Amino acid sequence: MEDSSFDLDLELSSLPKEKWLGDDYLFQLGGFWHLPQAIQGVNRVINQFQPLPSDIILASFPKTGTTWLKALLYSIVNRSSKHRLTTENPHSLIPVLEYKTYGTTHASSTANPPCHINDSRRILSTHIPYQLLAKTLGSSECRVVYVTRNPKDTLVSTWHFVNKWKKAKEEGWPFEVAVEKFCHGLIPCGPYYDHVMGYRKLCLDRPKYAHFLTYEGLKNDPKTHVKKLAEFLGCPFQGEDAEAQVQDLVNGCSFEVLSNHEVNMAGGFPSRIAFIPSNSFFRKGVVGDYKEHMSAEVVQKIDALTKEKFHSFGFIY
Ligand code: A3P
Repeated sequence: MEDSSFDLDLELSSLPKEKWLGDDYLFQLGGFWHLPQAIQGVNRVINQFQPLPSDIILASFPKTGTTWLKALLYSIVNRSSKHRLTTENPHSLIPVLEYKTYGTTHASSTANPPCHINDSRRILSTHIPYQLLAKTLGSSECRVVYVTRNPKDTLVSTWHFVNKWKKAKEEGWPFEVAVEKFCHGLIPCGPYYDHVMGYRKLCLDRPKYAHFLTYEGLKNDPKTHVKKLAEFLGCPFQGEDAEAQVQDLVNGCSFEVLSNHEVNMAGGFPSRIAFIPSNSFFRKGVVGDYKEHMSAEVVQKIDALTKEKFHSFGFIY
């Protein structure tokens, strides 16, 4: 495993870089590619973040179901205030450590971000690979939830998302280019395969503290997964109406319901990457959308790569 201690104030010019979107670069830290806007925050999280035993950390590769999991985790933990999802975007309720909490120099001195948003337990999220957070999370008693998604849909979702950014609109990001970059690991937080395997190993090694789930599994049987998540987090559903509570929570976090709240249809987040429209987090929400975009040849290429990367570890996609 790579050494995850880095100097606090990173000089971007000291890091390996590669072009990924037009003439925009990604920077490599600890074997993973990061957006320049994210890298100082990533570095601060690695060096400064100290999770509390009561913390819940949602980890994910971008476009694998983060928004959905934020809604579900918020509702599971804060059952009496889950109605906040009707007026607040899930990303406003659960901050991303490297962008929000540690994303500014101001926050860099905050070793432990306060519970300023979530009511009872802190729920925080990150896209930082486990390999870079092993020292932080590997012996902590906080609970880590990792969601992943099949690589072909992840790639398609990423392509649509990036195409909403001004840069891509101006210069274009052809699908074939996105496929090449994805296969070479050259997308934000990539390589995707290493990201998944890092957390996969953590979840196998420390099942009491780290829980692994897939977008497809959740789609297939959300109620069972929500019950498992609640148990894992130490707040199981109880009482005669437990089934109804779970069903109600699943409905409230469904794509159809969430994407129709006004707060998720209009406006957006003026982030340092680009202006991110709220509705870009809710595109289609289906399994297998890659079939609409990928030729048989591309499917074959990604499947071969997935087999090579995942199957020897007993993980099937
Ligand atoms: P698609 O682009 O395939 O539609 P992330 O939240 O990690 O950025 O992932 C975004 C993907 O999750 C998008 O996939 C989005 O539509 C989907 N998504 C968002 N909310 C969802 C929900 N409540 N249920 C299912 N999928 C959802």
